[in-house]
Amino acid sequence: MTQNVGIVGWGKFLPPNVVSNFDLVSMGIDTSDEWIVERTGIKSRRIAPADMSTSDMAFEAAKIALERSGKATSEIDLVIVATTSPDYIGFPSTASILQNRLGLRTVGAFDLSAACSGFGYALATGTQFVQNRTCRNVLVVGADSLSKLVNWSDRGSCILFGDGAGAVVLSATQEPGVIASDLHADGSEGSILMIKGGGTRKPLSDQVVADKEHLIFMEGRSVFKVAVNTVVNSLLETLGKIGKVPDDIDQLVLHQANSRIIQYVGEKLGLPDSKVFSNIATYGNTSAASIPIAIDEAVECGRIRPGDLVATIGFGAGFTWATNIIRWGV
Ligand code: ACO
Repeated sequence: MTQNVGIVGWGKFLPPNVVSNFDLVSMGIDTSDEWIVERTGIKSRRIAPADMSTSDMAFEAAKIALERSGKATSEIDLVIVATTSPDYIGFPSTASILQNRLGLRTVGAFDLSAACSGFGYALATGTQFVQNRTCRNVLVVGADSLSKLVNWSDRGSCILFGDGAGAVVLSATQEPGVIASDLHADGSEGSILMIKGGGTRKPLSDQVVADKEHLIFMEGRSVFKVAVNTVVNSLLETLGKIGKVPDDIDQLVLHQANSRIIQYVGEKLGLPDSKVFSNIATYGNTSAASIPIAIDEAVECGRIRPGDLVATIGFGAGFTWATNIIRWGV
C-alpha cells in the first residue's frame, strides 16, 4: 500500500538587497527599465551579498518550513536540495552542508541538478520516498544564487536572474497531496542554456575565465520557444492522467522566468489571471527557488487555500521540465 504524501510545511528566504532595473543601468549595464519590463515583466530582483552562499539561503528557508510543519529535526529522514549554484563545485553537496547546519541526524542528503526545473524534480523525487514508506518526512529545498554565475556583461541574460531559496516539508498525509508528477528532459537542447567551462568537458583555466565561459550562456529566443512548446503539453498530459482538465486548476504556479511565458501559458490553458500566480516583477528568475517561493507567497496572500488544486511547472536548462499537481491540504 502506498502512502499519501502532502506538503505540510513551507518557507522562503530572499536576500535583503533589492536591485531594481534602474540600479542595473546605474551599474553600467546597457539596458533600460522600459526594455526589461516590456520583454520580461521584471522590475527588481534580490541579489545575495558576496559572503552569502546558496546553503545560507537554503538554511533560512528550511528553518521556516520545518517550523511550520511542526516536525522535529529528528523526524526528518532525507534532505534534497535542488540547485545549480552549489556552495562548492562538486563536493561537499549543499544538501550535506544544510543537513549539518540544521542539526539533523546523519540522514541522507543530496543535491539534485535540473536547473530551473530542479524543485519540480526534487518534489517528485522526495514524494517517492514518503509514498513508498522509506522516509517519514523529507525536506525539499530549491535554492539558487545565479547572480554569482551570470555574465554581468551580457545584457541579454544578466537582467533576468535573482537569488533566493524556498523549502517544503513532505510528509505522510491522510488525503493525497502530491497527486501526479511528470518529469522530462530533452538533452538535444542542452546547448541553448549552459555554462560551457569550468566542468570536466572544459576545466577551469585562464582562457575559460577570460572568455567568460565559466558563466551562464543563454540563447534567450530558443529558450523561450522550447519553454512554451513543452510546458503546456506536459501540464495537459499530467492532468489527463488523473482525469482533470485545465478548468479544474485553482492556481497555476509556473516557473517565474518571463511574464510573457507565464501569460502565454495561462492563455493557452484558458485560465483567468486570478488563477495564474506571478511574482516575477519583484524577484526575477530565482531558478530552482522560484516555485517554492511562489507557493509560499500564494499561500500567504490567500491565492492557494486548503482543498485547492495547484499545478506547478518548472522548466530550464538541460532542457528539462517538470510538472507536479498538488491538492493543497493545510
Ligand atoms: N536591454 C536592452 N536591449 C537588449 C537587452 C537588454 N537587457 N537584451 C537584449 N537586448 C537587445 C538585443 O541586443 C537585440 O538588439 P538588436 O535587435 O539590435 O540585435 C534586441 O534587444 C532583441 O534581443 P533578443 O534576445 O532577440 O530579445 P528577446 O525579445 O528574445 O528577449 C529575453 C530576450 C528577455 C531573454 C527573452 O528571449 C526571454 O525571456 N527568453 C526566455 C529566457 C528564459 O526564460 N530563461 C530562463 C530559463 S530558466 C533557467 O533554466 C535558468
